[in-house]
Amino acid sequence: MADVLIVFGSTTGNTASVAERIGKTLSGGGHAVTLLDAARAKADNLCQGRDCVLFGCATWGDADIELQSDFVPLFDAFERIGAKGCKTACFGCGDSGYTHFCGAVDVIRKRLAELGAVDVAGELKIDGDPDRAGEDIDAWARTVLAAL
Ligand SMILES: Cc1cc2nc3c(=O)[nH]c(=O)nc-3n(C[C@H](O)[C@H](O)[C@H](O)COP(=O)(O)O)c2cc1C
Repeated sequence: MADVLIVFGSTTGNTASVAERIGKTLSGGGHAVTLLDAARAKADNLCQGRDCVLFGCATWGDADIELQSDFVPLFDAFERIGAKGCKTACFGCGDSGYTHFCGAVDVIRKRLAELGAVDVAGELKIDGDPDRAGEDIDAWARTVLAAL
């Protein structure tokens, strides 16, 4: 049984609902899953003792990529989360009408790679209402599941 942490930053609830759906697939596979709102996350050694950490973040902004506001303090302290060697993957909600579709996912993935994290599932980017992307979410969660 793997110990999986899913940290998410979500303003209007879309990325939070994706986090919950992923969590259900992983717990259904027999793993211990903890959901954590980025607003309550503490950066120091966040990854310690976890077999896998998933990072979910919505994208806000316009001309520039802006991470969902609760995720910003965590991201700014990413060098302290202990990502090196940890299995990770990133997901998020956005709107393809914006210039940087789900740009937060790209920014977080890049930083995790710099810190030596091991990406196990690539990225999941949800365009619009996540309720219409259930199959994509489940397929991605199964990719994570296979890597645990
Ligand atoms: C002011 C504003 C700026 C946004 N900027 C972006 C953006 O740059 N890229 C993107 O993909 N989506 C953008 N979005 C869309 C949101 O990311 C989308 O509504 C998402 O589902 C919100 O997720 P959340 O409910 O988890 O916060 C923006 C939405 C608003 C209202």
